[in-house]
Amino acid sequence: MTTTTPSMQTSSTMPPHDLADMALAAEGVRRIEWAEREMPVLRLIRERFELEKPLKGLRVAACLHVTTETANLVRTLKAGGALVTLCASNPLSTQDDVAAALVAEYGISVFARHGADRDLYYKHLNLAADAHPQMTMDDGCDLVTLIHQERRSQLAEIVAGTEETTTGVIRLKAMAADNALGYPVVAVNEALTKHLFDNRYGTGQSTLDGVLRATNYLIAGRRVVVAGYGWCGRGIASRFRGMGAQVAVVEVDQVRALEALMDGNLVMTIGDAAPWGEIFITATGDIHVLRAEHFKVMRDGAIMCNSGHFDVELDLPALKALAGGRVREVRQNVEEYDLGGRRVHVLAEGRLVNLSAAEGHPAAVMDMSFANQALSAEYLQRHHAELANGVYDVPTEIDQQVARLKLEAMGIVLDPLTPEQAEYMGSWQHGT
Ligand code: ADE
Repeated sequence: MTTTTPSMQTSSTMPPHDLADMALAAEGVRRIEWAEREMPVLRLIRERFELEKPLKGLRVAACLHVTTETANLVRTLKAGGALVTLCASNPLSTQDDVAAALVAEYGISVFARHGADRDLYYKHLNLAADAHPQMTMDDGCDLVTLIHQERRSQLAEIVAGTEETTTGVIRLKAMAADNALGYPVVAVNEALTKHLFDNRYGTGQSTLDGVLRATNYLIAGRRVVVAGYGWCGRGIASRFRGMGAQVAVVEVDQVRALEALMDGNLVMTIGDAAPWGEIFITATGDIHVLRAEHFKVMRDGAIMCNSGHFDVELDLPALKALAGGRVREVRQNVEEYDLGGRRVHVLAEGRLVNLSAAEGHPAAVMDMSFANQALSAEYLQRHHAELANGVYDVPTEIDQQVARLKLEAMGIVLDPLTPEQAEYMGSWQHGT
């Protein structure tokens, strides 16, 4: 963990920033450009934004994973005329080369260092809030929470926000139910072109990628336990099944459990899964899914990791207490806990394994998520005055536009209904 005191640096040529190493900028540019090739929808939006400047002069504070894909989103917002400040939404997901490239090459203010400790993480959020945003763009709701708890005077300046992820939307809905939400927020996660693809295929692939990069294990034949069968859990289970794992799903919801079973997984309780599994992956959004009673019965060599937004799904304090200090890093991103004859392993400190041990979701899927973000920002800039404080879905037209543009970019052509078919679908008189 980095504990350096952040120094907000400014120079005549560079925007305010705190990042690890400006010398990494050239590598960051190369990787951002590589990701851009896989983001045709966002590129089209950027080209239009350049001409129309729909976000002209709008101060946006974005708290997102600092990745090559996010870089292409903030470039798009900037092309639309926004004044963007970016901070990290997770201490381990920051790609330091991307942070450097954004500042040095694209003129965007960034506060993010890979491995930041908690103090530095929140210092960076505060530095982003110091830019006095009129719009927030959050992933996990930490920036919104900070502003509502500690910087309430700024609420009057903020016209609207967007939220990227399931966990953040749950928090925002709780705030709205408490009448505590100070401005309208569009829940980007709820767009079909977001969660059906990003949460399912993005998390599925990037979680597998994180586990592979961290362990280099063979997946075929391995017993894998997936906790949570939301869109992320579905994607993770399907990708591990695809690699030949035996997958057991742990769920608390009956319908999801049935779906997991009929998708071809085993379904069992966490208590039964604990001594059975070899790799455990949590994606529930809840706390202490795997805890002391489970650690005590796990096999020697078990691997645990998390793909949920926060690092609370594994009860690491309980695990540390059980190991009594017998913890060592056995490989990059792999910590071994010696439980007296049995060794269990935690990947990436229990933080998002797909972003900490790998690079997050592939650009082709973030293309759709971030197209929704950019178009929702444009929509909110136009319509915020008509919206009460609350959580809103992405307008259906935006969702459909993203799907259409993505299909077009992929060269996929759909059939129109014939006139006869259209008439039939609109009628009720036809029977057996
Ligand atoms: N969330 C998941 N994957 C991501 C990525 N590649 N970039 C930004 N946010 C993400």
